[in-house]
Amino acid sequence: MNRDKNRVIIFDTTLRDGEQSPGCSMTLNEKLRIAEALEKLGVDVIEAGFAIASNGDFNAVQQISTLMKETIVCSLARASIKDIDRAWEALKGARRPRIHTFISTSALHMKHKLQMSPEMVLGKIEESVSYARNLCDDVEWSCEDGTRTDEDYLYRSIEIAIKSGATTINVPDTVGYTTPEEYTRMMRKIIEHVPNSDKAIFSTHCHNDLGLAVANSIAAVAGGARQIECTINGIGERAGNAALEEVVMAFRTRQDVLPYTTGIITENITKTSHLVSSVTGLNVQHNKAIVGANAFAHESGIHQDGMLKNAETYEIMTPASVGLGKSTLVMGKHSGRHAFSEKLKELGYVLGNNEFLSAFEQFKDLADAKKVIYDEDIISIVDDGMRDNEGMQIISWKFVCDKGIPNSATFEIVDGGDVKEVHSEGNGPVDAAFLALASLIDGEHDLELYQVHAVTKGTDAQAEVTVRLSENGKTVNGHAAHTDTLVASAKAYLSAINKIFVKREKKKPQEM
Ligand code: KIV
Ligand code: ZN
Repeated sequence: MNRDKNRVIIFDTTLRDGEQSPGCSMTLNEKLRIAEALEKLGVDVIEAGFAIASNGDFNAVQQISTLMKETIVCSLARASIKDIDRAWEALKGARRPRIHTFISTSALHMKHKLQMSPEMVLGKIEESVSYARNLCDDVEWSCEDGTRTDEDYLYRSIEIAIKSGATTINVPDTVGYTTPEEYTRMMRKIIEHVPNSDKAIFSTHCHNDLGLAVANSIAAVAGGARQIECTINGIGERAGNAALEEVVMAFRTRQDVLPYTTGIITENITKTSHLVSSVTGLNVQHNKAIVGANAFAHESGIHQDGMLKNAETYEIMTPASVGLGKSTLVMGKHSGRHAFSEKLKELGYVLGNNEFLSAFEQFKDLADAKKVIYDEDIISIVDDGMRDNEGMQIISWKFVCDKGIPNSATFEIVDGGDVKEVHSEGNGPVDAAFLALASLIDGEHDLELYQVHAVTKGTDAQAEVTVRLSENGKTVNGHAAHTDTLVASAKAYLSAINKIFVKREKKKPQEM
């Protein structure tokens, strides 16, 4: 890999940094699905988790390691023997494992976060990287808060990391602070000043605090970096990371000024974006580049006229190049299995037998409930099947919403083999439903977000609901779709409660 001097390695960290977005925690099955989609998308490296952070992360790294055929699988580890051992334990079944170890190098982080002297940090770099390299041939080292690190100290630390065996050096813009020109210059100077820089590939990892993550990542490549760390839909800590789809499409669209290549099969971008947003419950903003609902929509008359005459007038890339096809099959009540299967193909989905049958059943139910089935409805059904709906499920419901009498909600819930009933009155049916379902979990939690949006046009459209709950500062997102907004709301709330239970089972990260 990377023999071509302009080939940029795409390192996807949706499952690690992306999962650090508020509410974005994913179950094991969801992570496995995303990993499979990332491999089909053609990413070079998948950062599957932070093995020591929890048993859940460990299992995810371990299972993704055995699942991936071609893709390098990576686990994050702090600069400690315990972390590195745990990462290796999870990774060792992978065909192509990578240990990614990091330590902060900025004066601010060393003094206040690590409470270590710069000399002590250099010692840790040598110790951790050589330990990792003894276990694994592929070792990445990151200098956390790299862009706010003193230049000379940065050069020294990188030189030591490479001498100790690091094969990739990542210089993260941890707090989204740098600017494109500054970052290009920085990369260039690192490569010039570090005597053994020819022995490693340089990498960029940009956060989006100033909205510059994509521009900065591209700028780093101009300065000599040949790996970009990014996430699907740009999810990640705080304002997120560089969005994979934006970086890749910038290269593909502007080869005249950005003559870089990646291994990404861009036609799989839209599908992967849907999957990630559906699993995490983090909706993509409508005007988001490449994957937003409006990214290829033309509203003004002048633009529409231009488009009809020649699409290139207002389209710099085709919708098909990111996997947005033109719909040819109209679906409805009378569509059978064959038509449904053709429609799935048209939308780019390949489902297993059981997944297909369950999606078809849901499609039939939906076709009974609404007149026209749009592509978005089918996507919503498939995405629903992709989410891990483990835990308690609602099997029947009753809402009372009438003027002059107390509003209430009653549910029958199946929990493993048991069926129980919960009921509450409330200030409106949604409040009553949430209060009834909240009685299924002990302890306090807060409702941080309740968001409803219609999947398609029409008053019979499915409502897609996101509910974000927090418990002790940790957040989870629940997500559900239904033609009845109240039912979708209740299902989304219960899905968030199920995720709190999963989160409680996760062990606390061990201290360094
Ligand atoms: O933002 C950051 O610095 C990171 C490192 C751990 C690579 O996520
Ligand atoms: Zn990060």
